[in-house]
Amino acid sequence: MKKQVVEKNKSIIEVNNITFSYENSNSKALDKVSLNITEGSYSCIVGHNGSGKSTLAKIIMGLLKPNSGKIKIKGLVMSPETIVEIRKNLGVVFQNPDNQFIGATVRDDIAFGLENRQVNPDMMDGIINRVSKVVGMNHLLDKEPQNLSGGQKQRVAVAGVLALESNIIIFDETTSMLDPRGKQEVKEIMVQLSKLPNKTIISITHDMEEVLSCDEVIVMRDSKFIGKYKPEVLFSQDHLIKENHLDLPFVYKLSKLINAKIPGIKPEFREAILVDEICQKHKLK
Ligand SMILES: Nc1ncnc2c1ncn2[C@@H]1O[C@H](COP(=O)(O)OP(=O)(O)O)[C@@H](O)[C@H]1O
Ligand SMILES: [Mg+2]
Repeated sequence: MKKQVVEKNKSIIEVNNITFSYENSNSKALDKVSLNITEGSYSCIVGHNGSGKSTLAKIIMGLLKPNSGKIKIKGLVMSPETIVEIRKNLGVVFQNPDNQFIGATVRDDIAFGLENRQVNPDMMDGIINRVSKVVGMNHLLDKEPQNLSGGQKQRVAVAGVLALESNIIIFDETTSMLDPRGKQEVKEIMVQLSKLPNKTIISITHDMEEVLSCDEVIVMRDSKFIGKYKPEVLFSQDHLIKENHLDLPFVYKLSKLINAKIPGIKPEFREAILVDEICQKHKLK
């Protein structure tokens, strides 16, 4: 949060009036969606299941072609002519850690993406070592992916994306299938990456604690873009939370419950401050 962005408020992704329906469906998965994402920012996309979040990610990735509307990535309008160039900027890590592996070992898996991009073989070891260090997996390069924990598998997937130097990384519910430790490991890496000024991070998530640490929250509901907010602004507006079926971060929810019983305790996002306020009120240390 609160980092220096590359050029203030420059949009790296421009989604303009996109409508999309899946072939086998007569309802819209995205309905006139327009939004911009700032270069170097950390955005979360939230919304109920089926609201269109993954479809939006796939449209941005160029994996699905919109029925109408326009997408610009780094100023380039997406088209069959520009898609190869545009894809060089984009990386995605999906939800299921077991569906992302191709290589027999962690090293092979990261190398596979590099081979695909025809990276000079002499450079590969250096790249693999560097990116596996970033995600704390450099000691496990010769392991078989199936023997890794879910969190470790997702960290390898992140390393694969970093190896390709994608400067826009989309995480589509990357932590949702992980145990608490795996979740924590992957979230820490996401936050660490989001602090790098040249990386634009987009995280589709139901984890409201994570949302609290991002720069901007994009809210989707019923295939539509509802709005883009600072996290604390979103959470403090009851109607937005209710209408969009969102949850609140735990400490904030708790502080509101306490506030209903002890009026002097204000709604608060930070655990330590909430605890201090309660203690002061009750003259406890
Ligand atoms: N492959 C598909 N074929 C047909 N309909 C789909 C497909 N994938 C998603 N949908 C539909 O598109 C809508 C948006 O889905 P999705 O983008 O996956 O939502 P979210 O990621 O927010 O849960 C939903 O109504 C969903 O049922
Ligand atoms: Mg989804």
